[in-house]
Amino acid sequence: MDGNSRSTATMTRENQQHIIEGPTSVGATDRSAFKASENELKAANEAAANNNGMVRGATPDTPTIPSIENIVPSHRLDGHVTIVTGGSGGLAHTLSQALAAQGSQIALVDLVVEKLATVEFELQEFIKVNKLKPVTISTWACDVSDAAQVEELVTAVPKEHGGIIPDKLVHTAGYCQNIPATEYPAGRAEHLVKVNLMGSLYICQAMTRQLLSHRKRRKSISHNINSVGEALPFFPNASFVLIGSMSGLIVNTPQPQVAYNMAKAGVIHLVKSLACEWARYGIRVNAISPGYIATPLTKQVISASPEGAALQEAWTSKVPMGRMAEPKEFIGAMLYLLSRGASSYTTGENLVVDGGYTCW
Ligand SMILES: NC(=O)c1ccc[n+]([C@@H]2O[C@H](COP(=O)([O-])OP(=O)(O)OC[C@H]3O[C@@H](n4cnc5c(N)ncnc54)[C@H](O)[C@@H]3O)[C@@H](O)[C@H]2O)c1
Repeated sequence: MDGNSRSTATMTRENQQHIIEGPTSVGATDRSAFKASENELKAANEAAANNNGMVRGATPDTPTIPSIENIVPSHRLDGHVTIVTGGSGGLAHTLSQALAAQGSQIALVDLVVEKLATVEFELQEFIKVNKLKPVTISTWACDVSDAAQVEELVTAVPKEHGGIIPDKLVHTAGYCQNIPATEYPAGRAEHLVKVNLMGSLYICQAMTRQLLSHRKRRKSISHNINSVGEALPFFPNASFVLIGSMSGLIVNTPQPQVAYNMAKAGVIHLVKSLACEWARYGIRVNAISPGYIATPLTKQVISASPEGAALQEAWTSKVPMGRMAEPKEFIGAMLYLLSRGASSYTTGENLVVDGGYTCW
């Protein structure tokens, strides 16, 4: 490179900086220079508006006035397909209602499709009674611990949703077992880990593979650079929310559940690992770790024990808020993490929603 071309390159960088920072910060004194700067700034702001309102270096010194949509995040999910695993479960049932209310199409996934038909019917009733915009809901039988089944599921979902590639995930599939460690049969512990932990990896892998392969077919990945040379994420809307548990952080008492605890600890670190690998694609991966929730899972644990009421009392006595959660108390966390506007800089996070349990 000769001296001239070097200085041209420098000029270009300065000009870019000038546009981004605005006229006040480049010391423009004469009116025509100021006017030119204003025009450049206007152009930059328009470009920024087209780029989802992201303005690099927007500080009180820069006269950028954002629109309300760029300040108050929307939690609408219109045009997206959310895969909800564990779709027949207590938590998923409530979360799916919130997804439908926000306009998301939903692919409900669980072991048995018959039970999902009831869930789908109830969701359609929910939509009708509340006069919501109709959304497509599909139901799928899939064992998330079987990587091949998961791959097949993810490939098939777009066919039922007008070709839309799912870029939102709410992964709730899982189960708990209370067996003392000394008596835990290896096969049962392995199965639980396969469902709760490996299933979490499989569904994320399959969705990301599909997003990436779709992208490659459409255009070369090297084109994804903005005017100031920053790499742009391919999938800025993609957000995976995995349901972990406070059991991934603490050891529940008095019931023994070593396999569940270690699997949920794995989920929390899984989201961090995937978040780091896939941030370059714009895919965000986060966990929500609930405390005790009043769903069929916990009700079954309570009713399966002769000391059920005492067990519940033992649990709630350790919760600073003094009670179990309702499933609807996780909707806010889910919508926050799914919303691009609300949580665009949040990835690898484990959002603990436990009434304060893990504080003590
Ligand atoms: N209920 C709680 O107190 C609590 C607390 C912390 C975390 N969680 C977690 O929240 C999630 C949802 O729990 P829930 O209370 O709604 O339980 P739930 O039992 O009501 O729902 C779980 C669903 O997952 C499905 N599932 C199980 N194995 C599967 C597999 N291999 N493939 C596909 N689907 C499978 C089940 O059929 C069930 O419908 C679970 O991951 C659970 O570990 C629950």
